[in-house]
Amino acid sequence: AFERAEAAVSGLTRWCDDFPTPGVRFADLTPVFADGPGFRAVIEGLAAVGAGAEIVAGVDARGFLLGGGVAMELGCGVLAVRKAGKLPPPVHSQSYSLEYGAGTLEIPSDAPDLRGRRAFVIDDVLATGGTLLAAAELLTRAGAEVVGVAVVLEIEELGGRARLDQYPVTSLMRV
Ligand code: PRP
Ligand code: MG
Repeated sequence: AFERAEAAVSGLTRWCDDFPTPGVRFADLTPVFADGPGFRAVIEGLAAVGAGAEIVAGVDARGFLLGGGVAMELGCGVLAVRKAGKLPPPVHSQSYSLEYGAGTLEIPSDAPDLRGRRAFVIDDVLATGGTLLAAAELLTRAGAEVVGVAVVLEIEELGGRARLDQYPVTSLMRV
């Protein structure tokens, strides 16, 4: 599963210089997800490290696409970790800084009841790690146990893995 996923990601990712701000090289995985075998390979690759999870948490926005597929594969439910302002109260809210700018992520704080549930957190890209750290902290605050974090693409030089050192981190491809 890993080899197929890595081949799809390396072959289909579109690299965009100076987006969204000058100096940032943006990895656009849109063509990977739009390719049937590519999407399947990525979902199977991520699901392969999520065994035992009880809920998959997908991070806004492309983590939603991945999270749904991975949850189906694992036979568990899916939770959307959303950008601020989208969910009705009550919510858990966590701010973080990005390579470009800042953001806030939220999950519902009342339902579903996440206490004691094994959560597997999914996003498309790991860069500085701020986004996934915020997502993992939200789930932890809700009482879940974060059993793993997985992404399609890891930008190693930005050091996200070190910031997530309390969680098992898997990436299907590293650049
Ligand atoms: C991108 C990417 C990851 C995050 C990684 O999302 O989808 O979620 O950055 O960066 P980090 O490891 O430095 O936190 P972005 O915030 O651009 O928003 P989007 O997912 O809504 O496109
Ligand atoms: Mg994102």
